[in-house]
Amino acid sequence: MELDDYRRTSFESWEAMAPGWERQRAQLEKISAPVREWLIEKLAPKSGDTVLELAAGPGDTGFAAAALVGPSGRLISTDLSPGMVEVARRRAAELGLENVEHRVMDAERIELADDAVDGVLCRWGYMLMADPAAALAETRRVLRPGGRLVLAVWGAAERNPWVSIAGRMLVERGLVPPPEPDAPGMFSMAGERTRALLEDAGFTVGRLEEVPVRFVYRDVDDYVLRAQDTGGMFARVWREASAEEHATMRAELADSFAPFAVEGGFELPGVALAAVAS
Ligand SMILES: C[S@@+](CC[C@H](N)C(=O)[O-])C[C@H]1O[C@@H](n2cnc3c(N)ncnc32)[C@H](O)[C@@H]1O
Repeated sequence: MELDDYRRTSFESWEAMAPGWERQRAQLEKISAPVREWLIEKLAPKSGDTVLELAAGPGDTGFAAAALVGPSGRLISTDLSPGMVEVARRRAAELGLENVEHRVMDAERIELADDAVDGVLCRWGYMLMADPAAALAETRRVLRPGGRLVLAVWGAAERNPWVSIAGRMLVERGLVPPPEPDAPGMFSMAGERTRALLEDAGFTVGRLEEVPVRFVYRDVDDYVLRAQDTGGMFARVWREASAEEHATMRAELADSFAPFAVEGGFELPGVALAAVAS
């Protein structure tokens, strides 16, 4: 797919998914907490800092930083999707945060001056962007010298059965095309690519570590409901599939999830790759 086609499709898909992400926000944040904690600890924002969050989605990672920078500091919480920005705005209000500026912004074209911020956060964003190198160059430009970037992407597909089992099933059934190497996607920054992209953008990489997460589901129906709410491709395929195909896919997922059965459901593991750079 041409990059501009990808950008358009990605925008439409995230806009469509914003309500689902709002419905699943608390659940997603519980699962993602180890990654949020890693990123905030490494960013170590100080009172008075200005922190930029890119691809913030519902915004919770940045809101943890907002609490630390205090009333003299500021969080600029941004996302490409206006719908997601509204989700984040409602969440910040619920948390009573008053030092957050919400903005619709494409991370490939950051609308801020050079050296404008003390820190940048981005959890599960860069690997989905059409041109992550451009987004990282923009990040470098707006980050003041000595400021820190903390980011998380996903590790390799085989380390993330919570999403790759279903993804493989859709590919094997011919319902979605196989992923192209290095094309934007969930696993496109696994392995050494994250370090290479950071260094090419002029960053010095500090820690680059795996952070495990665990996705817990009551049963296959719970998995399917949550995947429809949060996964654009899964939602589209499921919407277009017949009742018979649904039954076949549910049975296949049940078989594949069997090794991950725990009391009360399934626990599917995942591995994020988290980095701090300056
Ligand atoms: C997987 S979600 C992650 C949301 C949030 N960071 C979290 O950890 O829960 C990816 C987010 O990236 C946003 N996004 C995708 N491409 C973007 C771009 N080029 N610039 C800014 N945000 C983008 C989407 O709208 C979506 O909210």
